Amino acid sequence: MGTLKSHEKSKDAVADILKGKPADSDKLFSYFKVFMGDRGVAAITPSSRYLVRRVVKALDLEHARDVIEYGAAQGVMTRAILGKLHKDSKVLAIELNKNLFESLRDVSDPRLTVYNGDVREIDQLAPRFGMGSADVIFSGIPFAFLSPEDRHTLLKKTSHLLKPGGRFVAYQVTTHLIPLLKHHFKKVRIELEIRNLPPHFVFTAFK
Ligand SMILES: C[S@@+](CC[C@H](N)C(=O)[O-])C[C@H]1O[C@@H](n2cnc3c(N)ncnc32)[C@H](O)[C@@H]1O
Repeated sequence: MGTLKSHEKSKDAVADILKGKPADSDKLFSYFKVFMGDRGVAAITPSSRYLVRRVVKALDLEHARDVIEYGAAQGVMTRAILGKLHKDSKVLAIELNKNLFESLRDVSDPRLTVYNGDVREIDQLAPRFGMGSADVIFSGIPFAFLSPEDRHTLLKKTSHLLKPGGRFVAYQVTTHLIPLLKHHFKKVRIELEIRNLPPHFVFTAFK
């Protein structure tokens, strides 16, 4: 619980910075500590409300029932999508970092299943949790830290898991994923959200 409170404080600190207010260093410390201990976390703070809003819009959740989240961390995006999803929907949220996963477990919703593991095994994990296919998959994991082969394989597995007409949304710091997304998906939409530390691209890839 203490960890979750600290993460929420970190988010408030980012909001303060974006409003031009001085940041409370204590607020930023907790997420930053996890970031320092695990480079795979990739961002020094949780996503800002602006990035969350942009990603949620890109997901187009109105008709989505089966949703998978890669790299949920402490659940900033998870909470936001649960607020928008239908009562009969299902969400599988996966997080690799043990400390962040402990905070994710505090997100309480009967539609949500959380798992501490590696999304590179999504082809085995999804069916295990009753998610044979998905309407929407979205991801904050830093693809740049994966090997080229793992990037390719994960996108192939992701596209395979999506229902026809489904979408994959990835928020990333760099543009390196664009050619790979174009290879694995029919169409890719590119947006930039600058009101986040650091600014993120939001890629929406359509199956
Ligand atoms: C940039 S953070 C995004 C966190 C959160 N979704 C947000 O919007 O604030 C990326 C997250 O992906 C997780 N991650 C990185 N590689 C992963 C993997 N292979 N499987 C599952 N999670 C992973 C990291 O531990 C980290 O929590």
